Amino acid sequence: MKEYLSIVGGTPLFGDVVVGGAKNAALPLLMATLLSRETSVLENIPDLEDISVTVRLLRRFGATVTYSNRRVEVSVPEITETTAPHALVKMMRASFWVLGPILARTGFARVALPGGDAIGARPVDLHLQGLKKLGADVRIEHGCVVALAPGGLSPARVVIDYPSVGATHHLMMTAALIEGETVIEGAAREPEIVEMGSFLSSMGAEVEGAGTSVVTIRGKKNLSGGHIRLCGDRIEATTYLAAGAVTGGKVTVNGITADSLSSVLSLFERMGCAISTGENSVTLESTSRLRAVDFETQPFPGVPTDTQPIFLAALTRADGTSRINETVFENRFGHVIEFRKFGAQIHIAGREATIIGQDQLHGAFGEGGDIRAVAGLIILALMATGQSEIYELHHLDRGYENMVEKLRNLGANVIRVPAFDSKEVVLGC
Ligand code: UD1
Repeated sequence: MKEYLSIVGGTPLFGDVVVGGAKNAALPLLMATLLSRETSVLENIPDLEDISVTVRLLRRFGATVTYSNRRVEVSVPEITETTAPHALVKMMRASFWVLGPILARTGFARVALPGGDAIGARPVDLHLQGLKKLGADVRIEHGCVVALAPGGLSPARVVIDYPSVGATHHLMMTAALIEGETVIEGAAREPEIVEMGSFLSSMGAEVEGAGTSVVTIRGKKNLSGGHIRLCGDRIEATTYLAAGAVTGGKVTVNGITADSLSSVLSLFERMGCAISTGENSVTLESTSRLRAVDFETQPFPGVPTDTQPIFLAALTRADGTSRINETVFENRFGHVIEFRKFGAQIHIAGREATIIGQDQLHGAFGEGGDIRAVAGLIILALMATGQSEIYELHHLDRGYENMVEKLRNLGANVIRVPAFDSKEVVLGC
């Protein structure tokens, strides 16, 4: 059933929240299980819609998957299918990354091209160039990528022109099942890449440099099952810290290490928040109006583009004018139209947003076009005066587990409401 969030803003949030395992590590690691005939075990896997989609994808290729208590076991003794149709890739762009593992395991794969989406063109040229370097014959036929390597793939030196997270995951996974040494230069350095390195190592590949821009993988002809317990989700953590920051509260996020959040924590400090860190927790305290800041999004260790809608929302009530330069995606300000409904003053010029901080925001109806756009709307609603309604929660369910319960435990006045009750129909038209 469709639902919306009803939020009454203005309550300072206090308390503890535990974040789940990193969604953006879970997805590629689950795909990496396709590399082995043996059983892999992944723990701290969040219960999210994107995980369900990935499990469906794995089953399509012949995997047996069990999921219980945030522990996933996957075994793929045989790959029984080598194609991924548009309908599956459309549900989640990252599905495309199965191309390399299926190719490495069977010598053939056909996967629909992901196409553009709400935040930019998101091409896959770097993925395909890398696979070609590894010896794949890659063709585009009828909107699908067809990759062949009947004689097997070969190790190589691959240079990625831009530190694409997806291309780095994709090429690391593929290289792990190629006997010999592959070197990936220009690799992404995100913490999720470090998780991929650890997981592939647990499968028997030798991986060095994951988390730096040069990753060396000594792949094996056969890999064993892997085992990992996932790190915490840094974007989910940022969302709860922002909720504390905008409401003038004090929030401790558990299940996350500060090193994965360093750029984000410095930004909160520049905004006037006090940060303290524990071994596996971060606390943010906000006692005064947030200060305006200028920043740009960057690949790790810079400020993640996935936090941009969240910070943009937070800055709409800051003291002064802020500027955000979005360098990662060329079209990631779609949420701004909805943000303005709350009284936010934001001007967009190309990749730069100028945000003029307002004394007050008012509650509004908002709907988001992607996971983080909805998160940004929730941040706005938490600090706005009066009631807000946030729609398109299917996006939220792709990336946040039990968000309502977590926010309520911090003191937020938020409930999930069936979308088609009579009140909504009257107010929403
Ligand atoms: C991943 C994350 C996503 C995050 C993004 C950037 C997952 C499941 N998703 O997406 O949440 O926003 O990293 O941190 O982990 N590009 C090319 N050619 C390519 C590949 C990418 O030009 O072949 C461009 C993209 O269009 C984009 C930029 O590189 O402008 C970054 O994309 P990339 O790092 O690949 O993002 P994803 O892996 O898709």
